[in-house]
Amino acid sequence: MQAIPTLAGVPVLGCLPEFRRDRLAFLARAHREGGELVRAPMPGGRQVFVVTSPELAGEVLRTQAACFKKFVALDRHARPILGDGLVTSAGDVHKRQRKLIAPGLTKKEVGSYAETMARLIDETVQRWRGGRTIDGLEEMARLTLDIATTTMFGTSFEGDAGAVGRAVHEAADYIAYRLGSLVHLPLAWPLPRHRRLRRAVAELDAIVYRLIAERRKDPTPRSDILGMLLAARDEDGSGMHDQQVRDEVMTLFVAGHETTANALTWALDLLARHPEVAERLAEQARGVLGGRAPRLEDLPALPLALQVFKETMRLYPPAYMVGREAITPVRLGGFELPAGATVIVSMYGLHRRPDLFPEPERFDPDRFAPEREQALPRGAYVPFADGPRVCIGNHFALMEGQMALAHIAQHVRFESPSSPPVPPLPRVTLRPSAPIRLRASARA
Ligand code: HEM
Repeated sequence: MQAIPTLAGVPVLGCLPEFRRDRLAFLARAHREGGELVRAPMPGGRQVFVVTSPELAGEVLRTQAACFKKFVALDRHARPILGDGLVTSAGDVHKRQRKLIAPGLTKKEVGSYAETMARLIDETVQRWRGGRTIDGLEEMARLTLDIATTTMFGTSFEGDAGAVGRAVHEAADYIAYRLGSLVHLPLAWPLPRHRRLRRAVAELDAIVYRLIAERRKDPTPRSDILGMLLAARDEDGSGMHDQQVRDEVMTLFVAGHETTANALTWALDLLARHPEVAERLAEQARGVLGGRAPRLEDLPALPLALQVFKETMRLYPPAYMVGREAITPVRLGGFELPAGATVIVSMYGLHRRPDLFPEPERFDPDRFAPEREQALPRGAYVPFADGPRVCIGNHFALMEGQMALAHIAQHVRFESPSSPPVPPLPRVTLRPSAPIRLRASARA
């Protein structure tokens, strides 16, 4: 067996202190010093390997996916909230659920949510047009949550939106806190944070189970995600029971909300800092839309909005790394990894490789012009991961991002009063480490 390059760490604790202090610096160093596959020593002889290569990322996520399971910490901390939904389930349960849900989230199917998205994006734009300073993340989190609740439960869903928003927020917050802390007290302990979470989840459960019961009584087909989940059938004609539907609803909310909100926030920040790109985007959007909200059929004529969104996720991948654990010994790029090894696929490192993305720190949406994007090797750009567990909401998120950026850019110009740029903070997702304030003014 060849020796895998090993990162230097401190005695006993290895690379753990650096990983906890500054994960992005750790991921950057892993590639700089170790190359495509590097071993990071951790306490107790734990084996952690960092992958920053398109080919090896493809092996872990796709071709050898069966040799790995998802990183256990996520499972332990997210399961009490997400139950057995797509993010946390494994094996046959995951396979069945994925097969049931995937047909409802294809590019063609998510097109049916375009009108709802456009309406909610337009409401947001109208609120800003008078000119004001906004907190980017607050505004984008509100927009993406409005879009998630409305596409999930349909436009008739009203009074309960606040409770759903609170529950989703509490749940995401709690998972981030659990993943980030060293001491894990049982959720049953009556701490304020635990109580808040339990209350929020109970509220959401009450709403979701009530809606499920109502829909089961009146089976008129409904064109929202809840309707899709309830109608999904496998080959033997069986569908999901109530708790499975509940788990998938919570999972889709938590997996889709903060990721998309962060990506959009970084995109607005980048546009404020690159007025020449914002001008080009505004011009293209105006030329196609003439001021009105976008429709599904406009999207092919708005490529720059999609390129801006993709380039944003290159620089600030909301999922900046994914973790896997080898369930058997695995051969990876000529090396032998033991069973039990933790493998981190570093999206952050991959997306900043200068050989794949020259001048990687530069914001350049033209990198994603179709012919240039096609020339990238598979696995070089993986904001949604790849393989059997690739993000099931990727078409939804891309459509949401493209629509939002096109419509916002044609009406609003942003300036960023905060300089230098706000650095990213790597938690469960890559979020801004401080509020991103943006001065919005209406375009003439
Ligand atoms: C910009 C936005 C988004 C990004 C960057 C993103 C990224 C990701 C990534 C990297 C994974 C794979 C995680 C892993 O393999 O460990 C994933 C999984 C997942 N995502 Fe997304 N996501 C986004 C939006 C969404 C949306 C809008 C939804 C829901 C409509 C969603 C639902 C899910 C689900 C359910 C999974 C688990 C899939 C499975 O394991 O079968 N995501 N996402």
